[in-house]
Amino acid sequence: MKKVGVVGCGLMGSGIVEVCLKSGHETVAREVNDELLQRGLGRLDGSLERAVQKGKMTDAEREAARARLTATTDMGALAGCDIIIEAITEDRRAKAALWQEIAKVAPAGALLATNTSSIPLSSLAPATGNPSRFLGLHFMNPVPVMKLVEIVRGIESSDAAVAEGQAFIEGLGKTTILAKDTPGFLINVLLVPYICEAVRLVEAGFGTKEDIDKGMQLGCGMPMGPITLLDFVGLDTTLAIADVLYEEFGDPKYKAPPLLRRMVESGFYGKKSGRGFYDYGGGK
Ligand code: CAA
Repeated sequence: MKKVGVVGCGLMGSGIVEVCLKSGHETVAREVNDELLQRGLGRLDGSLERAVQKGKMTDAEREAARARLTATTDMGALAGCDIIIEAITEDRRAKAALWQEIAKVAPAGALLATNTSSIPLSSLAPATGNPSRFLGLHFMNPVPVMKLVEIVRGIESSDAAVAEGQAFIEGLGKTTILAKDTPGFLINVLLVPYICEAVRLVEAGFGTKEDIDKGMQLGCGMPMGPITLLDFVGLDTTLAIADVLYEEFGDPKYKAPPLLRRMVESGFYGKKSGRGFYDYGGGK
């Protein structure tokens, strides 16, 4: 079993911590401050509790999983990790700055992975100090449920690093696909324009959000309609991905709809903030 470090304990990070713990890995969860750490642990404990309630794990298994966790704000705790996965906000500069910090404590042979959903790895790799050991492990939301992890091979990622990443993800019980280091990789270059197109339909008044969602869910067999999915993934995250795609490709088809940007500016981030296109009782 590998010792895993997860940096960032938000929606994605806490899910990654959960699947690592459940698979028997000793795991370090590192957040930037105690408030965010406690929020991440609350999400983790809520999800483990649901798993116990649904009979997917026993109380004893939950306790054993929880005992494998080190939760900390100390970057130094990553020093003994075999794999370090960064899962912070989708911001190129913040990620690059964080990787410079991680590079100071990461063991020389550690596998270094980013959970970025769109940012080219080559723009982060130099900050890691070890580009041949760096790759993308793009988990899907909700991490404990979705079966896929997109493995992104950076220009300098070694064959060994990609093979280790693949073996690690398969050990978590997940399936992989391999993507090249192009903006949005394979998933989000398809998914985000689809979601943005749905927002454009709402913006233009061509249909209600409810009908657009119902159309895609009941008419096309999607588990969620695009507007519900947008609230679920996060409007801020989706906007950040759309901006990366537009900046990189320069093609207007990737341009974020103004309504999406206005909503993010207004603090409507989706389910996680209590309100996006739908209201989840967040009070805003
Ligand atoms: N954590 C753990 N388990 C969860 C969960 C969570 N957050 N949410 C749901 N589940 C589990 C439930 O416990 C349930 O398990 P059982 O079947 O064993 O009882 C199962 O998932 C189904 O859940 P529900 O019955 O409550 O609800 P549902 O049938 O509507 O499914 C869903 C919920 C799995 C989220 C489903 O709606 C779905 O697949 N939606 C699409 C999600 C999707 O597209 N994700 C990818 C987003 S893109 C992305 O992540 C990439 C990016 O970079 C933006």
